Amino acid sequence: MAATLSEGGCRRLLQLLLLSRRPGLPLRRAAAGLKLQHSRGTHSRSSTWDVHAFMPESAAFPQVRTYQELLEISVRDPDTFWGVLARERLRWVKPYQTVQDCDFSRGRVNWFLGGQLNVAVNCLDQHVHQSPDRVALIWERDEPGTEVKITYRELLETTCRLANTLKKYGVQKGDRVAIYMSVAPLAVAAMLACARIGAVHTVVFAGFSAISLVGRVNDAKCKAIITQNQGVRAGHIIELKRIVDEAVKSCPTVKHVFVAHRTDNKVHMGNLDIPLEKEMDKADPACDPEIMNSEDMLFMLYTSGSTGQPKGIVHTQAGYLLYASLTHKYVFDYKQGDIFCCVADIGWITGHSYVVYGPLCNGATTVLFESTPLYPNPGRYWEMVQRLKINQFYGAPTAIRLLLKYEDSWVKKYDRSTLRTLGSVGEPINHEAWEWFYKVVGENRCTLVDTWWQTETGGICISPRPSEEGAEIIPAMAMRPFFGIKPVILTEEGRLIQGEVSGALCIAQPWPGMARTIYGDHQRFIDTYFKTFPGYYFTGDGAHRSQEGYYQITGRMDDVINISGHRLGTAEIEDALAEHPDVPETAVIGFPHEIKGEAAFAFIVLKEDTAHTEPVIQEQLKSIVASKIAKYAVPDHVLVVKRLPKTRSGKIMRRLLRKVITDESGDLGDTTTLDDPTVVTEILEAFQKYKQDKSAM
Ligand code: WTA
Repeated sequence: MAATLSEGGCRRLLQLLLLSRRPGLPLRRAAAGLKLQHSRGTHSRSSTWDVHAFMPESAAFPQVRTYQELLEISVRDPDTFWGVLARERLRWVKPYQTVQDCDFSRGRVNWFLGGQLNVAVNCLDQHVHQSPDRVALIWERDEPGTEVKITYRELLETTCRLANTLKKYGVQKGDRVAIYMSVAPLAVAAMLACARIGAVHTVVFAGFSAISLVGRVNDAKCKAIITQNQGVRAGHIIELKRIVDEAVKSCPTVKHVFVAHRTDNKVHMGNLDIPLEKEMDKADPACDPEIMNSEDMLFMLYTSGSTGQPKGIVHTQAGYLLYASLTHKYVFDYKQGDIFCCVADIGWITGHSYVVYGPLCNGATTVLFESTPLYPNPGRYWEMVQRLKINQFYGAPTAIRLLLKYEDSWVKKYDRSTLRTLGSVGEPINHEAWEWFYKVVGENRCTLVDTWWQTETGGICISPRPSEEGAEIIPAMAMRPFFGIKPVILTEEGRLIQGEVSGALCIAQPWPGMARTIYGDHQRFIDTYFKTFPGYYFTGDGAHRSQEGYYQITGRMDDVINISGHRLGTAEIEDALAEHPDVPETAVIGFPHEIKGEAAFAFIVLKEDTAHTEPVIQEQLKSIVASKIAKYAVPDHVLVVKRLPKTRSGKIMRRLLRKVITDESGDLGDTTTLDDPTVVTEILEAFQKYKQDKSAM
């Protein structure tokens, strides 16, 4: 282990190797064709490939020569693998003593015990010492061509001023702080300021309604909220402060609201409100980092499950940071000096791991994208790629599906020669979108990675890369597990199955980036992820494993739907709809949507004596969902039916509803448990009529 090569030396060696050949062309080209001609099953081991150049830390495993061997050792001997990586890649105040102490049966996940560090120091100070003027953030503001660059030195100072401001108003180690902001340098500084003083941030996506914000803030018992006077998106103003004003009326734990200024417009400032920039101007530009234990909480992020209210997924310090930074480097082939762009909002896990923590830990220049793919026109992304000289572009299939509807000239007129890696995340990418992204955007030469992961996994778990350059990539497939990840497939009865099969996707052993608990409800954590298949982490997704051992995600196995890459429980929408006094029963299911991937389809039963017409109620229901959850959660379709299909024990048979709307009513499967089978004909008729009325369906 003492024989670790210096990073600089390895990087130079790697550069030489890369210059000496044109990476992987034949296989990539083959992958883009409709007929794939890849060498099935094997990783072609190129003679020039050097595992120690690929991952300098692998020098600790002198016996390892190939990518496959490195992958194997990461799974077979995770303690050594992760132990070496944690020691080499993170800056510690005190080294850890125990690599891991995990027990899935108790939902116990601990990594790097005994170690102490500060995440903000890893993301900022270490780079400021080496190259203070390197650009940390490029804030791609809503209005194209008005980007703002922030160096590591500036980001450290901003973070420290914000941290001192929080401290001045009583925010302490362990306190929870909600961040309700659109994508901006101050939002990143707010996350890092919490990390610096040991407070726990919970970022709430700025598209969520006041009621959703209340639910999260109260569950987390947040002491403070950091927000902006207004947000700006696609030329529109979003009244963030006004939404916070409405929310805090119902948030007794909130003592202060820090208000940053994104626009020059004045907003009402009340008793709780503190003008953030003004306070920061007065604050000390240096702030001693709090010394944190590896397993202290770093942040929580609320995400939807199949039942109940969104749950606060907890991530801790060292393991999360290591996993985010390692996946960022290897999945995207990040090299120092690259401009990395993940267009996700910081309100989602993708923004946490691949806009903020992964890239900053690696000393990257990371782009903060404030706008939308169509603003001011469908060329926005690619004009930005040209202007900012972006090397890696990571986005969602929903945006790709939207953009491919426009002329290719919106892409082609911009120079995309800097691009090397393209990534897709959050939902299945269909073949048409994959091919367009690969061929039109990536000019058949960029590596395109379909990355599968979850809020709970902390970082990418299955992705075509890392692997040796040139190894095959199959379109629209996540394919290979990342280092240390051991995916398995189980039958519904919990039997582990080998070979080419489909079933429940589970992960068989812990990895440092995985969630530690659900805030305030560890039992729910155990029940949700470790009970269904004892001994395994259950992802909630189904998957198919090919003959070659590649994984294809087939979609959720529970009542979670994915609208434009945003995860949502159908139960949450049903709960919102149930608020309507004239709607005693509802059932919501996912419905395939050309652009959004999935949309919500609501079946509702009306009270017999309702005074409103159906269209009025449908509109009222939509606005209830927008105000209780968020606009994106609003069902595209609300169909009034007389009854819902129920079993004799009163359970709604959603499976039948799904068959009705996907035109599979010819094959309804077993309906013997239905209380009254004539209900299906009734619903089919209602649906046919609805379709005729809305000829667009
Ligand atoms: C889905 C987003 C297919 C999946 C990072 C997962 C995907 C859920 C992919 C997690 C992919 C994510 N292919 N499905 N490449 N990536 N998903 O927590 O159903 O917002 O369980 O995390 O998105 O969504 P979350």
